[in-house]
Amino acid sequence: MKQHIDDTSRAYFPAKGAQWEEVKQRLAAFKDRDIGQAQGRLNVYCHQGTPELQTIRDEAYTMFSHGNAMLGGFMEGSGTMEAEVLRMALEILNGAENGIGFITTGGTESIFCAMHAAREWALVNRPVPGTPEIITPYSAHAAFDKACHFLGMNIVRVALRDDLYADVAAMEAAVTENTIAIMGSAPCWPYGLIDPITEIAAVAMRHNLWMHVDACVGGYINPWLERLGYDIPTFDFRVPGVRSMSADLHKHGYAAKPCSTVLYSSSDAETYHYVPVDNWPIGEYRTAGMVGSRPAGSIATAWAVMNVLGEEGYVEMARQCMAVKERLVEGIEKIEDLKCLKNDSTMIYFRSETLDMMTIMGGLSERGYFPFGVFNPPMLQLVPEPTSDEVINDYLRTLAEVATGVRNGTITSTALARYT
Ligand SMILES: Cc1ncc(COP(=O)(O)O)c(C=O)c1O
Repeated sequence: MKQHIDDTSRAYFPAKGAQWEEVKQRLAAFKDRDIGQAQGRLNVYCHQGTPELQTIRDEAYTMFSHGNAMLGGFMEGSGTMEAEVLRMALEILNGAENGIGFITTGGTESIFCAMHAAREWALVNRPVPGTPEIITPYSAHAAFDKACHFLGMNIVRVALRDDLYADVAAMEAAVTENTIAIMGSAPCWPYGLIDPITEIAAVAMRHNLWMHVDACVGGYINPWLERLGYDIPTFDFRVPGVRSMSADLHKHGYAAKPCSTVLYSSSDAETYHYVPVDNWPIGEYRTAGMVGSRPAGSIATAWAVMNVLGEEGYVEMARQCMAVKERLVEGIEKIEDLKCLKNDSTMIYFRSETLDMMTIMGGLSERGYFPFGVFNPPMLQLVPEPTSDEVINDYLRTLAEVATGVRNGTITSTALARYT
């Protein structure tokens, strides 16, 4: 990642502190230099929802900005708040009857925790002769590679079907005596497609494997799309064999970052989730996940947003996201040479047979947009949010201008292009 240090020849840490008012102004200047999220110019990784939700997040975070959620066991108020968020999460994903969950700092940590639990479970329930391995579709998030790296496991990414969904038969064929876990995404980040979770879970049951569903993006929007009548295949704890799920409250849950959930179908998973430590001067030490101290502020935002929106509010947010998606897809497909890839979520992916997508990204970046792309196959990615006609029209106008420029050779720079 680029480190934006303006002047490397000077020291930055001040010997003497400045007035807060002055420091605040400098913070505001940093904020101004960021690409405008409110104007829809940052199209991924934001999940802001509406301006009202931003205000709720700001106020709720401030009320708990002092708090350390690691102390939830001792703090009756924030401990109850966290337990209620987890209970709501399990209710939403149909795991409340027997399940348990933990709040983590993000999808990556939730995936790490689930893979750790899988490894510990396998020690007892599926001992393997060699290095434990997990099987994922090629489209699984990079967090699985990171988890395997930290946990001393191997990841086997299996090629996808031609339509970019997980190839379940090929995944089953990849199972070896060292396989301990298998997973599917709902949806995957690179293509927005919901893998055939029921079929993958059936493989898990046939081979006694841990089954994880990565619903970091979909966990808190698929249920509402289902209510709205979209064709969302069953992906949650209703699917027999699913043992764990990652679902991010800081994405479509509209909580402040960092806030995710790792959920288990059975409270027995507690044994595999925790890393008990007592052999140090402080005695027993048990934390919710990989990290120690955690922000109570972001948990407060999750609790607040979940209570302000309720099911009705979330369904309405999902409806608005889909309405924005429909308008954007319609507009993108009207631009010569651009084509959208159908997917199962609110995300948009578009590609071209003739125009270089890196140059399209370069052109959008030069015009103040912050595009993200997929490398294989080359595509651009958008995550629509409820937004104004002005924002939608400005994006479509800019994209059309860039496509024309790339086609006629007046836009050639890929300098600012980037992939997620
Ligand atoms: C499907 C999926 N899984 C996991 C992650 C990782 O989440 P985080 O960035 O919160 O660690 C992402 C992030 O976009 C994702 O899309």
